[in-house]
Amino acid sequence: MSEAAAAASGERSAGHGGVLIVDFGAQYCQLIARRVRELGVYSRITVPARAAAALDDMQPGAIILSGGPCSVYEQDAPELSADVLRRGVPVLGICYGLQWLTQQLGGAVEPGTSGGEYGRTEIEVESGADPAGLLRDVPSRGSVVWMSHGDRVERLPEGFVVLASSAPCPVAVAADPARKFYGLQFHPEVSHTQHGFEVLRNFVVDIAGCPTTWQPGSIVDDKIARVRAQAGDEGEVVLGLSGGVDSSVAAVLVHRAIGERLHCIFVDNGLLRAGEREAVERLFAVDHHMDLKVVDASARFLEELQGVTDPERKRKIIGRVFVEVFREEAQGLRNARFLGQGTLYPDVIESVAAHGGATATIKSHHNVGGLPEDLDMDLVEPLRDLFKDEVRALGRELGLPGSVVDRQPFPGPGLAVRCLGEITAEKLRALREADAIVRHEIESRDLHQDLWQYFAVLLPVQSVGVMGDRRTYENAAAVRVVSSQDAMTADWELLPVDVLRRISNRIINEVAGLNRVVLDISSKPPATIEWE
Ligand code: XMP
Repeated sequence: MSEAAAAASGERSAGHGGVLIVDFGAQYCQLIARRVRELGVYSRITVPARAAAALDDMQPGAIILSGGPCSVYEQDAPELSADVLRRGVPVLGICYGLQWLTQQLGGAVEPGTSGGEYGRTEIEVESGADPAGLLRDVPSRGSVVWMSHGDRVERLPEGFVVLASSAPCPVAVAADPARKFYGLQFHPEVSHTQHGFEVLRNFVVDIAGCPTTWQPGSIVDDKIARVRAQAGDEGEVVLGLSGGVDSSVAAVLVHRAIGERLHCIFVDNGLLRAGEREAVERLFAVDHHMDLKVVDASARFLEELQGVTDPERKRKIIGRVFVEVFREEAQGLRNARFLGQGTLYPDVIESVAAHGGATATIKSHHNVGGLPEDLDMDLVEPLRDLFKDEVRALGRELGLPGSVVDRQPFPGPGLAVRCLGEITAEKLRALREADAIVRHEIESRDLHQDLWQYFAVLLPVQSVGVMGDRRTYENAAAVRVVSSQDAMTADWELLPVDVLRRISNRIINEVAGLNRVVLDISSKPPATIEWE
């Protein structure tokens, strides 16, 4: 995406004094951006090749250089123009970022003598070495930091002083206060680093003076104005509404901007949870008076999925059929030149990194809602500079109910990835009923606040049971309840025994076709949250 397109689609541009983060391929780059925003300061991530353009466009108040998997002396180390150091903008290098700074400014980086430093370590702060206060509020001894580096700084460039060290790493923190260049060998952004947030605040707010005015809830008017400007006086927008947080917030925002020129399409793929379609109709068509077309394609999806048991094939079929249905419906709206999407910032960063950045392990983000570019429509993506919790705040500001903004994630392929083996209407019915019971029993007791997801899975095994005096031979359901911060890792959670008992009793007694309930006690990794 060009910088102009970025601006049109809602990313902040020139002169707001936020933090530009240059991604050298760090695992934690998004986390740095999150932490800066938690300070109330706008942040944006760019790749080294686009750093100069991003600097011109954004005019940041500070630059953070991220960590990365390479060594600065490797041939294929990511290249960043030293021009970023000549702009008079304060710079903080983290891990590889510190080593890059060191090398650019005439110091020396070498492989660590004892094979690197990974995980927890403690730093010792040099007294009197830090007049600018980068390490203000960090205890002088025993502060725990998280390290992850093979190389280390052997000789600092002229003008730099050591602010802190660890036993294996003499240069854990360094600074050239006159030029406002700072470097941390440890990762302040991870929660294991005890005073990491304070160090980031000291740099971003106190040293660089970035304004702490970024509040996702307060940008509603700005977002609406941008959508209006992009769509012009007559532009019509088609938007695929799934009922999830992202597309719901995007829809309400675009609706505020252009009213009846927004046309929402909700595809019922037959893989929805109980009550989902009705809730979407009620909220958007009735409460928000939106133009909403509900397309019942459930028979088509079921037919295409007939006999398919392989999880990946299921996903591919669902993705393809969704695009076909959406395309047919969108083409019916001939005047619509714009396609509205609830794309979030992590999706943008991932796709940028996948196409031009340095990050090695990023997977491209595929969603059932991911539509092909040959739809030949301009994209309206008002959320593309926001993280998920910021979108939630925006949704609340727009008056969306908690049932939408705090909704647990639901995968694009829907119940298909929870209905193991061949999918049939009958199995989906049983799964839907069991899932509704799990949700009701948890939500009605307000047990869901700290849970990431909670749902039922239909297993393709049958087992013997006895009901009344009758022998049964029916399917089993699994109950999956997990906590997580970001779905990358997750842990199973135990519900109170009386709740588990009630869920089990109700499923076995009320749902035809199920005679056994089991509990999934697997963490991610090595399991995944969904079963397929
Ligand atoms: P796994 O099963 O990989 O899931 O641990 C991680 C998170 O992603 C959700 N998920 C999806 N979300 N489209 C989505 O929009 C998908 O195809 C998809 N597959 C999994 C899952 O519910 C969990 O929150």
